Amino acid sequence: MAVTAHPKLDANRLRADFPIFEQSINGKPLAYLDSAVTAQKPRQMIEAMSEFYETSYANVHRGVYALSERATAAFEGARQRIRALISAPDAREVIFTRNATEGLNLVAYAWGLTNLGPGDLVLVTELEHHSNFVPWQYVAKRTGATFQMIPLGDQGELELGALEYIAREGRVRVVATNLVSNALGTVNPVEELAAWSHEQGAIMVVDAAQAAPHRHIDVQALGCDFLAFSAHKMCGPSGVGALWGRTELLEAMEPFNLGGHMIRKVEFEETTWGDLPHKFEAGTSPIAEAVGFGAAIDYLNNIGFDAIERHEHELTAYALGRLGELPWVELYGPPADRRAGIVSFNVVGVHPHDVAQILDFDGVAIRAGHHCCQPLMRKLGVAATNRASFYVYTIPEEIDRLVAGLHKVKKSLG
Ligand SMILES: Cc1ncc(COP(=O)(O)O)c(C=O)c1O
Repeated sequence: MAVTAHPKLDANRLRADFPIFEQSINGKPLAYLDSAVTAQKPRQMIEAMSEFYETSYANVHRGVYALSERATAAFEGARQRIRALISAPDAREVIFTRNATEGLNLVAYAWGLTNLGPGDLVLVTELEHHSNFVPWQYVAKRTGATFQMIPLGDQGELELGALEYIAREGRVRVVATNLVSNALGTVNPVEELAAWSHEQGAIMVVDAAQAAPHRHIDVQALGCDFLAFSAHKMCGPSGVGALWGRTELLEAMEPFNLGGHMIRKVEFEETTWGDLPHKFEAGTSPIAEAVGFGAAIDYLNNIGFDAIERHEHELTAYALGRLGELPWVELYGPPADRRAGIVSFNVVGVHPHDVAQILDFDGVAIRAGHHCCQPLMRKLGVAATNRASFYVYTIPEEIDRLVAGLHKVKKSLG
């Protein structure tokens, strides 16, 4: 008999961990199908933060008293959990940030402003979230580098065949992509792109905001140079995220934020920078949030990322099947076997905001908008889409309620 590392995930049982589901919305049980924007929080994570505040709270890396040492140990314990989560070689390469966006800005500013110039090429993708698009566009403009997109094919997947002619436009110095697209759920070929980037002499920057909550990540196997993600999308608190980078790159980079904690020595004439990771952690850190981040990682590890991925795959295949039966629903993105638990669609002739509002009357929460992917919306020829996204607590009945709600939409507005 085949032995799997983790048993199949029981979403009905896991829902009991999430206090948010104890309420009803508009008189109906909450069907939260918007986990890609932010995930709900398990009691275990909330309690870990409360306990930390009640018993161990102090500033970190500052005091020599017992409480500060205890707080520092908890904070650094969280860093160790993040290191293990992404198989980073060294915890000093893990930098606490506010979120994925800040991590990506850190790289664009602290690496890009020093290393880019005219004749250089900065490559993002056509399905990039604005967080990994706008910072690179901005820094390319400021440094005189050329900014270009890897185009998307019809099924919402990157056209790697275009790389060869794009590379003729300059010296490729940066390739920035998400591992999983927040708008289409596409899983991007990061390993292949990382190998190509290095052949070109470029760095590979990965936005893992939609990947880290849902799949096992190994930065060494991916072969990337930087990888950023947020705690709030993976059952952790808002206000904290992580950036991983290779030691030699981080050490060679200028700091991003300046002030307390990130220095070695300050004199009137000159200031020198502290060691990694402190050089990039100016000011008081998100201390309790980091502890909550660590607790969220423990929670997800207990479920098992293989079980999480399998569960979401089943939900995605089910949702694509059910939505595919509705001829008046347009679906975007690749087939279920090549995407994560995200389904984007439109009800033909009905504005996505109206769709989301009608679903909300029945307690079904989905996203409507451009998903911070305006270049992708342009490619799809739409202003916005609806998006349903799934997580460990999502059950197939909620997809049935989504489909029932869409029938109502069709009846009243279609
Ligand atoms: C793919 C992707 N990248 C980056 C972000 C930005 O994450 P945050 O707002 O936590 O910085 C998001 C958030 O939706 C995302 O989906």
